[in-house]
Amino acid sequence: MRVLTGIQASGKLHIGNYFGAMKPMVELQKEHELFTFIANYHSLTTSKDAATLKQYTIDAAVDYLSLGIDPQKTTFWVQSHVPEVLELYWILSKFTPMGLLERAHSYKDKVAKGISANHALFSYPVLMAADILMLDTQIVPVGKDQIQHVEMTRDIAIKFNNEYGDIFVLPEHQVQAEVATIPGIDGQKMSKSYDNAIDLFMEEKALQKRCNKIISSSTPLGEPLEWEDDNIFALASLFLDNREKLELQVRYQSGKEGYGHFKKYLKELIWEELSEAREKREYYLNHMDEVNDILAMGAKKAQSIAQVKMTKVKEAIGL
Ligand code: ADP
Ligand code: TRP
Repeated sequence: MRVLTGIQASGKLHIGNYFGAMKPMVELQKEHELFTFIANYHSLTTSKDAATLKQYTIDAAVDYLSLGIDPQKTTFWVQSHVPEVLELYWILSKFTPMGLLERAHSYKDKVAKGISANHALFSYPVLMAADILMLDTQIVPVGKDQIQHVEMTRDIAIKFNNEYGDIFVLPEHQVQAEVATIPGIDGQKMSKSYDNAIDLFMEEKALQKRCNKIISSSTPLGEPLEWEDDNIFALASLFLDNREKLELQVRYQSGKEGYGHFKKYLKELIWEELSEAREKREYYLNHMDEVNDILAMGAKKAQSIAQVKMTKVKEAIGL
């Protein structure tokens, strides 16, 4: 199956992103022909300045490669390196009724939040349709908020195919298995917008400091600790199998250790989990030419598929 995922790069990644988005993506490449790109044309809709957009794009490339995107298995590129997608975007616009775009939840939500509407924000789903249709994508793994965009892609493709013949493959969305919401250091959903995140790539000392800030109850040392609603326990559990979770429960109940010990333990778990990714990241940061080569190779492959498709599309419509 050909699977496509688009990444909106928006700064530093945290543990919620890791368990909610990156790990499942890395799993996909084991079974499918995975195409993954950094959606920098899409990010432009909300970008404030050139330097940040550039930096976020590079950071995402390095972080995703470090966390397990395997360039031997997965085609990985930056969206704007395959500009054919913009040509298709314009053509698809002709098959996109205004009403379809006006009903888009994500656009309506953004406008309701006070983001000023512009044409790029409005037509965002058409560009997403172009990403998907250009590569004959069969499956698009998405979070719930993106399901509608894949449905719109199908609507656009059906309208095109009805008028000009069977050119586009109709994609299916696949909602990723519900990952429990990972709590932040204050117990709310971990999010970079809530200032409660534990970032993936921190210095060891800073990581311990961040873990020390996790809010827990104030049971004095020497008394058994509650593990059920404890944020440290919830975060540590992400890294443990069932047997290890039971062992941790026993340690909580023994009364021999305080929250400080468990904050140290959590830091160790995070540090350990990411040790390989950290090494790879160090490597890539010192070999940016390799990162650029990987992205160029990915762009070349995506482009070769895109060009064949565009020839067919243009022929079909008379361009
Ligand atoms: P943030 O809330 O920090 O801005 P994003 O909205 O950029 O995060 O999310 C990127 C991806 O990470 C999405 O697939 C989202 O579902 C996942 N994700 C983000 N935060 C969490 C969380 N706390 N628990 C589980 N998954 C999360
Ligand atoms: N809109 C997606 C998001 O915000 C990113 C994206 C852009 C995408 N183009 C795509 C995802 C094509 C899947 C397929 O997460």
